[in-house]
Amino acid sequence: MKDWWKEAIFYEIYMPSFCDGNGDGIGDFKGIASKLAYLKELDIDAIWLTPFYKSPKIDNGYDISDYYSIDADYGTMYDFQVFLDQAHQRGIKVIADLVLNHTSSLHPWFLESRESRTSPKRDWYIWKDKVEGHQPNNWESYFGGSAWEYDEKTAQYYYHAFAKEQVDLNWYNPEVKNAMFDVIRFWLDKGIDGFRLDVINFLGIDPTLQNNPYDEEGKQIHLHDKDLPIAFEIVEELRTLVNKYEDKVLVGEVGTEEFEIAKTYAGQDKLDLIFNFNLGSIQKFEVKRIFDELKKMEKENQGLYLPTLFFSSHDMPRHITRLVDQDTEQTRAQMLCTLMLTATGVPFLYYGEEIGMTDLYVDDISEMRDVQGILTYQRMIAEGNSVIEALEASNMCSRDKSRSPIQWNDTVYAGFSQIKPWICVNENYTKINVECQSREVDSMLQYYKNMIRIRKKYKALYKGNYELLDRRNDVLFFIRKYKEQRIGVFFNFGIKQDTLHLESLSI
Ligand code: GLC
Repeated sequence: MKDWWKEAIFYEIYMPSFCDGNGDGIGDFKGIASKLAYLKELDIDAIWLTPFYKSPKIDNGYDISDYYSIDADYGTMYDFQVFLDQAHQRGIKVIADLVLNHTSSLHPWFLESRESRTSPKRDWYIWKDKVEGHQPNNWESYFGGSAWEYDEKTAQYYYHAFAKEQVDLNWYNPEVKNAMFDVIRFWLDKGIDGFRLDVINFLGIDPTLQNNPYDEEGKQIHLHDKDLPIAFEIVEELRTLVNKYEDKVLVGEVGTEEFEIAKTYAGQDKLDLIFNFNLGSIQKFEVKRIFDELKKMEKENQGLYLPTLFFSSHDMPRHITRLVDQDTEQTRAQMLCTLMLTATGVPFLYYGEEIGMTDLYVDDISEMRDVQGILTYQRMIAEGNSVIEALEASNMCSRDKSRSPIQWNDTVYAGFSQIKPWICVNENYTKINVECQSREVDSMLQYYKNMIRIRKKYKALYKGNYELLDRRNDVLFFIRKYKEQRIGVFFNFGIKQDTLHLESLSI
């Protein structure tokens, strides 16, 4: 179906944490294939897989060292193909996560580039001289510290927006573009249904290397290292390339919470969908804020594109921990599920949220896996903080929180694996798991299944426009309409019962 993604429910799978099919403690393609029946029963339409390409995994696959092969931890190309075919047979689409902004420092392109200043691949990356004995400018990496790494061998700095092992490519060089477009064709030819494009607005930096300013709290504002005209140009070219294939979707991770910036990447000749971090990554639960963001998206998109609806991902704490408190636990989580599945937009569920999985905290730094958490710990210790303080700070920013293995049942390691998994299992797996929730009629899992069923039953819920979107205090409500069908959804996020007279609504 053309534009199938407009009506789809996506489900993000964090590759190493879904199901271990070969007994090495790491999730893989065989494992995911064995759970396709579960996903079909849940009735999601498309899977987003986090990167599965060969990688030293400094950032768990977002540091690719070979774009053309499957990482051995996840299986073989054959396993990938079997999985893809089986998903397709069940009517489930699969999109791949593609990292165009940077490669691993172990990618042969970079190894060649760092060889000498005259290497044919030198200009594939961003190399700069020292300026007055220092880094070329003040740009900071998103993982902390300077974004410039000095390379003794050729006495120049290279640029990395993330870890120093994730080296930014020079997108001003047409050879880079050609090489990456070949990668895209390769995976489309294999039958993948589209891409989630990692930090797509980071392609290209300001060539004048102006310093970034700081906000009032001393945090750097990333003004000159992203959202440059070249990123838009590449996005348009990508679109043209992908349009040569049928029914493929492009979803962009546009690293910004500014909706006004994010939306400029979406549209007919650009990306089909972008992640709306303005809503998705809210830190605190506030009805007014949620309403305002929904309203803003409704007003600004003017029917040109659909927003995405999500509250969790592999980069943020799980929303059940972040936005739900003890008193409102089950109910609020269910209401957020309802919101994602009934508001205008394309829902992106994150593995495990359907059973209400919560955040993972580690007791010892040796258990921490996320590069962002590990780097924070090292920095805190270097600055003279205690182990306890460093661990607390690293737990705060670590993305391990939302990456623990999905809890299938209450057997050892939550039924994810036979041996100790690569990352700790959340201790609450004996209470929160798929098996027990499949038996309980009023579990979170049953709630998600029911909501998905309801969404699919009513066209107004996946095709309709808002006839009304409003709020009275803690009550948020909307009416969606498709042809003759009108569905009203009312959320009382308050703790008291409330009454709303339909006649009082301006319909
Ligand atoms: C994206 C990914 C994140 C990764 C970063 C660098 O934001 O979602 O996990 O660390 O890009 O590739």
